[in-house]
Amino acid sequence: MTSQTLSRQDETLQVQNTDTRGLHVITWGCQMNVYDSARMTDVLRPLGYAPVDAPEAADMVILNTCHIRERAAEKVFSELGRLRKIGEERKAAGLGKTVIAVAGCVAQAEGEEILARAPYVDIVLGPQTYHRLPEMVARAARAGGAVIDTDFPVETKFDFLPNAAAPQTEGNLTAFLTIQEGCDKFCSFCVVPYTRGAETSRSVASVMAEAQRMAASGVREITLLGQNVNAYHGDDGEGGSATLAGLAENLALIPGLERIRYTTSHPRDVDQSLIDAHRDNAALMPFLHLPVQSGSDKILKAMNRGHTAQEYREVVRRLREARPDLALSSDFIVGHPGETEEDFEATMQLIRDIGFAQAFSFKYSPRPGTPAAGQPFQVDEAVKDERLQKLQALLREQQDAFNADMVGRTLPVLFTGRGRKPGQLSGRSPYLQPVHVEGPDELIGQIAQVAITQRLTNSLAGTLIRERACA
Ligand code: 5AD
Ligand code: SF4
Repeated sequence: MTSQTLSRQDETLQVQNTDTRGLHVITWGCQMNVYDSARMTDVLRPLGYAPVDAPEAADMVILNTCHIRERAAEKVFSELGRLRKIGEERKAAGLGKTVIAVAGCVAQAEGEEILARAPYVDIVLGPQTYHRLPEMVARAARAGGAVIDTDFPVETKFDFLPNAAAPQTEGNLTAFLTIQEGCDKFCSFCVVPYTRGAETSRSVASVMAEAQRMAASGVREITLLGQNVNAYHGDDGEGGSATLAGLAENLALIPGLERIRYTTSHPRDVDQSLIDAHRDNAALMPFLHLPVQSGSDKILKAMNRGHTAQEYREVVRRLREARPDLALSSDFIVGHPGETEEDFEATMQLIRDIGFAQAFSFKYSPRPGTPAAGQPFQVDEAVKDERLQKLQALLREQQDAFNADMVGRTLPVLFTGRGRKPGQLSGRSPYLQPVHVEGPDELIGQIAQVAITQRLTNSLAGTLIRERACA
């Protein structure tokens, strides 16, 4: 390394002049964290950091955390203890210092606490500041102390990130793309508005440019991400704002980009244009994650969801009218404060009425600082357990029935790689089910029709119908 006496502008340069160093990113939580981890890797690449598979081989480890689950902070501290030990062992072996950074929503919510309890951590950064990572790395190296940056900056990180490198999952054929962040809905139970901040949308131009790069690098399927993705209202470059439907229409024109998904949606923000898009835009996959949380109007009100159970049913009815093969996934919380047996039964009834292809369900657990945490009538743990079991049994039944119903159908499958057995290919259906067939490698990266013949435990098997499909 060169001189240690550096002015601010020199810092990045200094770090650029070093040899390649190992970077290990540990990602917990949602798909947006997966996206963020990839972007943090991009930001650090010009500084000589290259991804490595294990913390033992890393000069820098980033723990990208999630705050949505219970005891999130405790899990972070326990993982940090493990990383500290690995760092010490590396140092003892003469491998130099391991920089430890904590990113993501726990970092945002508990920044100071992290530094107090784990003073060996070098960098704490929130989800909105990771474009400043190079500066933070330089400052940490220079100061020899911890650097914390959990601002909600005026500038948007997307304007400062380098172009995305080859993304992301499944042989670079599928990718996540963040288009919206933050949330203004303030559901009673949720930390997101506090950790990810106010709702913001990226401009159409910025999203299109990233999607074009992804498609040019071989991506065939993009999942648009946002905490409230269908509240998207990005600058359309003509003095107005675009809707998600409008953005999806533009994205569908990109050569090579054949499938578009988006998550997570809020029922209140499903507008007519989005419903129409599910009828008119063939690239939009007929599988929608639309959390409802509860089927009881009283609990929906207490949750501050801003809609009734009937309004949810109505949105689903209109979506299915527009796209009859649309399947739904959802999130449920049992045992929100004030939930009675009758309220729980209303949730079970909503599930029976709608029929879900898949769902995530949770016992309510208080998050410090959220309104529900202080509400009276917290539900007994044993009651929550019992309700969760009943709810999950019903959802599992519906999921099994949905998958069983695929046998005998023909589905367009995007082939993403070789299967486990020789001569086998694996891919994903429009409903994100893994599908296996016998087939040639040339089909990887393409969509082909598959006659589904069998339902396996977590996947489907079928035979190729030998002509190329278009969607
Ligand atoms: N308790 C239980 N589940 C929660 N979720 C969010 N906050 C809580 C909480 N405090 C669930 C919601 C949300 C999903 C991502 O996590 O169902 O949609
Ligand atoms: Fe949290 Fe979603 Fe509610 Fe926003 S809409 S507060 S992200 S649960």
